[in-house]
Amino acid sequence: MVAASTSISPIRLFPVGEAVAPGTGVAKDAFGRAMTYLRISLTDRCNFRCVYCMPALGMKFQPKDEHLSDEELLRLIKLFARVGVTKVRLTGGEPTIRRGIVDLVRGIKSFPGIAEVSMTTNALLLGRLADDLADAGLDRVNVSIDTLDPDRFKAMTRGGRLDLVWQGIEAADAAGLRPIKLNTVVVKEQNDFEVADMAALTIDRPWQVRFLEIMPLEGVSQVHDEGLVSSEETQARLEARFGPLAPVETDAADPARLWKIPGAAGTIGFISPISEPFCAACNRVRLTADGKLRLCLLRPDEGDLRDVMRAGADDETLERAIRAAIWRKPWGHGLAEGERETVRGMSQIGG
Ligand code: 5AD
Ligand code: SF4
Repeated sequence: MVAASTSISPIRLFPVGEAVAPGTGVAKDAFGRAMTYLRISLTDRCNFRCVYCMPALGMKFQPKDEHLSDEELLRLIKLFARVGVTKVRLTGGEPTIRRGIVDLVRGIKSFPGIAEVSMTTNALLLGRLADDLADAGLDRVNVSIDTLDPDRFKAMTRGGRLDLVWQGIEAADAAGLRPIKLNTVVVKEQNDFEVADMAALTIDRPWQVRFLEIMPLEGVSQVHDEGLVSSEETQARLEARFGPLAPVETDAADPARLWKIPGAAGTIGFISPISEPFCAACNRVRLTADGKLRLCLLRPDEGDLRDVMRAGADDETLERAIRAAIWRKPWGHGLAEGERETVRGMSQIGG
């Protein structure tokens, strides 16, 4: 395993080239990383309350008028396409509970330059939405599912029904929203003993099952502190069941490192923000539901776009605001140095 802290120190690795944001071409940050991938949180609300995402009590949601309207959102996405974004992922909270989601997908997919639109969802509503989303141009989905046991599922999501989620996953597969990726956040004594059963899903299905280390976001610090399971431990559990996993070549910008159970139809991924930060290849920024450009998942640095837009900015001004914000993207998350996000939780940032 690579020591967590080696790749975080910024300036020595990527000297700052220019003093101001460049005005044309693909938008880059001051370290030369091109931002071609935009993740958009469509709402901070969710129909589940996963233990590693939201606190049991005291979760505060933003008033709806703080959120970007569909019109505002589409206007911004068109501008992001103009500054070089080619991939968009819709997240939340839970993106499928946003009213008008199908038309939003259709609108986003229609912009020249946007080659791929995907979604991270809990799949609860996919049973009825998958076909319409696929027709509207959605390319694929990542589904968050942490266990295959209905009672544990209910406990980890604080009330969710596994049978409906499973129907949603099958509907997504049937609608061609492929490759299906399943995200499993591994939590000590809640689902860590079940990771081999999750991984076994890939034996017959061409799916990707990905195991995530818990990140210490606002509201779930304690779950992180008490429940973190490293990817190394998860891999050891899988190898105890299946023997050595075979490495699979991975795209540098993909935070998942991929492996395969020999002979399996699908793949297994490890996403290890804690033990192996992937900041050097970061190509993504996040738009929050309230219209802030979040530059790093785990740092509070944000650029405001909503208020600039609501103050009457024209497209050129907004494009400059996007480029200027991207330029300020921080190097890395600093988790290895013990830094923590203390303002927004995952459901407000969008994974
Ligand atoms: N740490 C790691 N992953 C998280 N997710 C939500 N909260 C956390 C956390 N604290 C995951 C969800 C979903 C994705 C958007 O982020 O499982 O798959
Ligand atoms: Fe909802 Fe996803 Fe957070 Fe679970 S992890 S509460 S499904 S937003």
